[in-house]
Amino acid sequence: MLELNIQSKEHDEARQGEALLLKNDLLINNSRKLYIESYGCQMNFADSEIVASILFDHGFETTGTFNDADVIFINTCSIRENAEQRVRKRLTDFKTAKSQNPGMIIGVLGCMAERLKSKFLDEEKLVDLVVGPDAYRDLPNLIGKVEEGSREVNVLLSREETYADISPVRLNSNGITAFISIMRGCDNMCSFCVVPFTRGRERSRSAESIVKEARDLFEAGYREVTLLGQNVDSYKYKADDKEDGAVISFADLLAMVADVDPLLRVRFSTSHPKDLTDDVLYTIAKYSNICNSIHLPVQSGSSRVLDLMNRTYTREWYIDRINAIRKIVPNCGISTDIISGFCTETEQDHEDTLSIIDLVQFDYAYMFTYSERPGTLAAKRFEDDVPEETKKRRLTEIVNKQRSYSLKRLESQVGKTHKVLIEGFSKRSDQDFCGRNDQNAMVVFPVVDSYKIGDYVTVIGETCTSATLIGKIIE
Ligand code: SAH
Ligand code: SF4
Ligand code: F3S
Repeated sequence: MLELNIQSKEHDEARQGEALLLKNDLLINNSRKLYIESYGCQMNFADSEIVASILFDHGFETTGTFNDADVIFINTCSIRENAEQRVRKRLTDFKTAKSQNPGMIIGVLGCMAERLKSKFLDEEKLVDLVVGPDAYRDLPNLIGKVEEGSREVNVLLSREETYADISPVRLNSNGITAFISIMRGCDNMCSFCVVPFTRGRERSRSAESIVKEARDLFEAGYREVTLLGQNVDSYKYKADDKEDGAVISFADLLAMVADVDPLLRVRFSTSHPKDLTDDVLYTIAKYSNICNSIHLPVQSGSSRVLDLMNRTYTREWYIDRINAIRKIVPNCGISTDIISGFCTETEQDHEDTLSIIDLVQFDYAYMFTYSERPGTLAAKRFEDDVPEETKKRRLTEIVNKQRSYSLKRLESQVGKTHKVLIEGFSKRSDQDFCGRNDQNAMVVFPVVDSYKIGDYVTVIGETCTSATLIGKIIE
């Protein structure tokens, strides 16, 4: 772990990836300035911390303002059409800055870079560099070539790269919670999804390097780690030096990270319903520092649609997994992702999605209308035939129903006590702390001077909104 003191700053959602000024006494020679902004999933944000680390070793420090940067990187997402539109819009701001400062280098990283490859250079004349998620070690070399006047593309995907040996430079950090990537890529081929094309084949990072990163974070004062992968339940790692053939599963890895220290909270994301094993559930139940919270994307409540989506489970299978969670980890928070209006979705399929929301009563959900992505199985095989207004109307029905359950769930927490890790001050007032409970609900409560950020406190819930529990510290 690099000992970096990262200054925190308020940021709005559209700029949540904006890198902040790093100050480090050791960085006397790091005179070139990198500005990096990230979009998309937590894995992309974690990758930006790898990129910052690689460039840190080549004389860069990060800056929070792009106008004075030598290099601007935008780490992009392709998951839905509007994610790509946001990136293109933001690029116009960077291009304006470059037209005033022609020496500035603009690089596009991440999933859009991988999807569009050299086409990006044809389409966006002021972009100098296009680099995919597995090629970040090549960045210093590519920057050198751009400085000599060329425009560069490296979008090679790898079957091995996990950046296991690179200590991420924590960006936007509260010094308490951090992400750890445990694997890369995805082998699942859900028909709607671009990720297997932009991130390549699934590979797991060495368990020792993950545990070491968790331990280093704990020793630097961090109190929560979230283990990241597109499908964490299929994590498997066999150490080269182990001759007994033993393979470390995700359940094993969870236990290894939880064993770092009882004061280190462990979260993880994302679980795939087809792979979530009872072993993982028993491990969660066994360790009090593994949070009782599972993100289990259902996508649709209709087995017919799930089949077309190539999710490889049925509605019944999903419900069976929910029942297993409820039995083995009682009081577990369960959240999900839902897509409305996938190809051929009927009113009956939509009703099935609404009824699975009634059945599970998710704590919260991320909900989207289907967006066809070029090159995916669905784009090749099926017609995107649900009209946009139908997709939107169905999404509204899904959102309204889910919102009522989010509120109901939090209302049921009022009057109960919660173990909360203080993560910082609330967005609205520095008179209030905020942090999350075991089930991943955001809790806000008045500051008490004897407690500080990074402490665990017991909070009693007094009232709530549909997204936040409000209470006070009782010990
Ligand atoms: N690996 C995770 C999800 C990664 S993408 C999993 O398997 O669950 C995050 C979410 O974006 C998905 O769960 C899905 O709900 C949504 N999503 C992915 N592709 C989409 C598309 N083409 N249109 C709309 N939503 C999409
Ligand atoms: Fe995409 Fe499916 Fe892989 Fe998730 S599991 S990243 S939805 S292909
Ligand atoms: Fe987006 Fe790529 Fe993540 S497409 S959701 S940034 S893996």
